[in-house]
Amino acid sequence: MTDNKTSNAMWGGRFAAGPDAIMEAINASIDYDKRLAAQDITASRAHARMLAATGIITDSDATAIREGLLTVLSEIEEGGFPYSKALEDIHMNVEARLKEIIGEPAGRLHTGRSRNDQVATDFRLWVRDQCDAAANGLEALMRALVEQAEAGADMVMPGFTHLQVAQPVTWGHHMMAYVEMFGRDLGRMRDARVRMNESPLGAAALAGTSFPIDRYATAEALGFKRPMANSLDAVSDRDFALEFLSASSICATHLSRFAEELVIWSSAQFRFVTLSDRFSTGSSIMPQKKNPDAAELIRAKVGRINGALVALLTVMKGLPLAYSKDMQEDKEQVFDAADSLMLALAAMEGMVRDMAPNPDSLRAAAGAGFSTATDLADWLVRELNMPFRDAHHVTGALVKMAEDKGVDLPDLSIEEMKTVHSDIKPEVYDVLGVDNSVASRASYGGTAPDQVRAQVARWRNILK
Ligand code: ARG
Repeated sequence: MTDNKTSNAMWGGRFAAGPDAIMEAINASIDYDKRLAAQDITASRAHARMLAATGIITDSDATAIREGLLTVLSEIEEGGFPYSKALEDIHMNVEARLKEIIGEPAGRLHTGRSRNDQVATDFRLWVRDQCDAAANGLEALMRALVEQAEAGADMVMPGFTHLQVAQPVTWGHHMMAYVEMFGRDLGRMRDARVRMNESPLGAAALAGTSFPIDRYATAEALGFKRPMANSLDAVSDRDFALEFLSASSICATHLSRFAEELVIWSSAQFRFVTLSDRFSTGSSIMPQKKNPDAAELIRAKVGRINGALVALLTVMKGLPLAYSKDMQEDKEQVFDAADSLMLALAAMEGMVRDMAPNPDSLRAAAGAGFSTATDLADWLVRELNMPFRDAHHVTGALVKMAEDKGVDLPDLSIEEMKTVHSDIKPEVYDVLGVDNSVASRASYGGTAPDQVRAQVARWRNILK
C-alpha cells in the first residue's frame, strides 16, 4: 500500500496524488454527516461483535475495537473531536481516529462491510429515531388539542366553508378535527417506521460478502426486525427517508393550516382566540402590536419540508442500482426537515396549551351571517312536510328579507316571516338559536356537544 501523505489513507492505494481542493470541497460530507456519529459508532460496535462471534476476527481485537469506539464517541460528545475534511465523511473520520487510539485492530473493523451499507444503516437508524420523535411530538400536541376540545365542547363558534359563515359548530368540534388529522400523521410515522426497520448492514458494497457474517445478529443488535433481503436494494434504497419526508410534509401541511387559522382568529377583526405572550412578539415601532409569529413560522416551515421531499425525490430519480455518490445528497435536507418538523410540533403544542378562546366573540360570530338558515330549512321540511328544495327556496327568501333589513334571521318577526310562507309558526324560533342548532347535529361525527365529548373520550383512551 502506498501510504503517502497526499493520497487518501483509507482508499489511497491506487492513487498517486491527493484530490484537488475543489474535489475535496464537493466530495466531503463531514460538515453535516457528523450528525450520524452516534449511529455510526453503534452500528460499528454491533458489526465488530458479530465479526468476533462468527470467528472472522479475534475476541481481543473486537474488544479493542468496541472499547476504542466508545472512546471516540466520548471525544465527539465532549466536542473536541478533530474532524478532517480530507477523511471525507463520518465513517472514515471515526475509523481513522480509532486507528490512532487502538492501532492495528482498527483496520479489521471494515471486514465484510462497505461504506455503502454502513451509511445506509447509520442513516436508517437516524431516521427511525426521527419517526419516534415525531410520534412523541404529535401525541403531545394531540393531548393539548383534546384538552382544548373538552373545555370547549359546548362553546359555539361559526363553522366556515369558503371562509364564509356556514353553520354553527363548537370549539371542541373544531379542535377534534385537528386531532383526527394529526392522528393520521401519527399513523403514517408509525407505518414508515415499521417498513424501514430492516437492516442493510452486511450488504457490503452491493453484492454481499464472502466472509461468513451473521446479518441476523447485527440486525437484532441494532433493533431491526430482520436483515434486508437483497444486497443491491439494501445499499441503494432511500425509501425510508422519502417516506419520513412524505409523512413530514403532510404533517407540516396540517400544522400550516392550523397556524393560518390561529393567525386569522387572533386578529382584531376576528378576536376568536388570544394567544399567549409566550408565543407572540411585539413590534419595534408600533407599540400596540402583538404578532402571532410562532403561528406564522409554523405556517412557513412546510415550505422547506416540502422542498426537502422534492429535493430527495429528484436526487433519487433515474439513479441506476446500486450506490451512486448522488446519494450523499440525501442527508442535509432530511436533517433540516426533521429539525423543522420537531420545532414546529413543539411550538404548536405550546401555543395550543396557552391559547384562550374568547366565548363571547365566538358566540356572536356563530349567530351572524344567517348561520342557522339550514336549520330553518330543515324545520320547514320536518314541520310543514315541505320538499327540501322548496324549503331551501323559502329560506332563501327569508334570508334575503333579513339581509335587506340589515338584521339576522331570529330578528325577523313572525308576521314578516308569514309574508314569505303563511304556515310558518312561532316554534321556528327554537331552531334559529345557535345552541339548539349545534345540539341538533347529533349524527355520528357531528358537532353536537355529546358527539364531541364521545370523541374526546375515545382519543383520551388512545393517547393515555
Ligand atoms: N459519505 C458517503 C455517503 O454519504 C458514504 C458512502 C460512500 N460510498 C462510496 N462508495 N464512496 O453516501
